[in-house]
Amino acid sequence: MKTDNILKRADRVWLTEAACDLEDFRAEVERTTSLADYPHAAAVEKNVLIYDSASVLKAAQTSEGRRAVLAEICEAFATGPGVVVLKRAFEDTAVIDMASGIFDDIINEQQRTHTGGGDHFAKPGANDRIWNSLEKHCLRDPQNFAAYYGNALIALVSEAWLGPSYQMTAQVNRVNPGGAAQSAHRDYHLGFQASSVIEQFPAHVHRLSPVLTLQGAVAHCDMPLESGPTLFLPYSQTYVPGYLALKRQEFRDYFDRHHVQLPLSKGDLVFFNPALFHAAGTNRSEGIKRVANLLQVSSAFGRAMETVNRERMSAVLYPALKAMLAEGQLSGIEAACAIASCAEGYSFPTNLDRDPPVGGLAPKTQAQLMHEALAGGWEDAAFAAALAAQSEKKLS
Ligand SMILES: [Fe+2]
Repeated sequence: MKTDNILKRADRVWLTEAACDLEDFRAEVERTTSLADYPHAAAVEKNVLIYDSASVLKAAQTSEGRRAVLAEICEAFATGPGVVVLKRAFEDTAVIDMASGIFDDIINEQQRTHTGGGDHFAKPGANDRIWNSLEKHCLRDPQNFAAYYGNALIALVSEAWLGPSYQMTAQVNRVNPGGAAQSAHRDYHLGFQASSVIEQFPAHVHRLSPVLTLQGAVAHCDMPLESGPTLFLPYSQTYVPGYLALKRQEFRDYFDRHHVQLPLSKGDLVFFNPALFHAAGTNRSEGIKRVANLLQVSSAFGRAMETVNRERMSAVLYPALKAMLAEGQLSGIEAACAIASCAEGYSFPTNLDRDPPVGGLAPKTQAQLMHEALAGGWEDAAFAAALAAQSEKKLS
C-alpha cells in the first residue's frame, strides 16, 4: 500500500497533458446549478447564476448579510458554475457612456498615431484593444473614473474571491462586426503558458493560479447573442489539470459542443473564475461594435499582468474625489471603492529599513495614505508630495 503510494507520487505532483482524461472532466462539469443552493441569486440561466444587483447590495447592507453574500459568490466561483452575471450593476448608464466616449477617443488616437501594441488574441482589424485602460481612464477623466470604479458591486465581488487589498487592472476590447471567436482558454497566470512550461509547476500551483486573479467584464453596450458575448463552460474551473487539458483537441471539441452564451445589457457585470474554460464569441451582427471593459483583478499576494503607475493615478484621482465628496456626487463607500481600484492597497514589498511598520505589523499603504489625506482635507500638493515620499521609501 505504502509502496504503491510512493510509486504514484510523481504522477500526483506532476500533471501532464497526456494524462488528462475527458471522462474525468465530464464527471466534473456535467452538473446542474440549483437556484436553491444560491438564495441571493435571482435566476439560473443556462447553468449560470444571475444576480439582481440592487438585491445583492440590499442583502449586503448588514455585516452578517454581507458575510453571507460574499460567501455565496465565493463558492459560486470555487465549486459552483464558476461564473456569475450581475444585472444592472450600473443603474446610471450615463457613467458607462461617458467612459465609452473616453475609450473611443483613446482608440482613435491609437489608430492615428499607430500606437497601442496590437493584440495577441485576434487578427488586426477584427478588434481594438486598450491595454491598461485603468490608468489611461484615470488620467484622462478622474471624475468619471471615480464614478465608474466607485461601483460597489465591483468591489464586493472582487473581495468575495480575493479578499481585501486586491489590485485592479483593466483592458478594453472592442470587437467589430465580423470579429472571429477566440479559442477556448483559461486566463492568467498558468493560462498564459505553453504545456511545456505548465508541466514544470507542481499540482498545488495549478490549484493556486485560479485564486490569484478574478476575471470580470463591464458591458458597455447591449450584447445580443449575435454580437458574440463570451462563451463559457460552467464548472470547468474545477478540473485541476484543465490548464493542460485545453491544449488537447477532444477538450476543445467538448467546449465547442457544450459551451453556453448569455446576452448582456449595457451596465451588466460578468465575473468568472480565471480557470473557467471560456472564449469571446464571433460578432455576427451587422453593426454592433461589442465593447467590454475587461477587469482583471489580482490578489494582494499575486503579481498582476500589467504594470500600473498607481502613484501617478492616485495623485490625479485625489483632487477629483475630494471635490466629488464635497459636492455630494460620491458617497464615502463609493470613494473607498474607487480608491481600492486605484491606489496600492498592500504594504509589501517595501524597504523595511526606511519604511518600518509603525504601530502595527505592516507599513502604511498608498490606499491608507489617500484615506488619511481625504479625512484630513490635505491640499493636493501636500498629498502628491506625501505619495512621492512614500514611494521613495519603498525603494531598496
Ligand atoms: Fe480570457
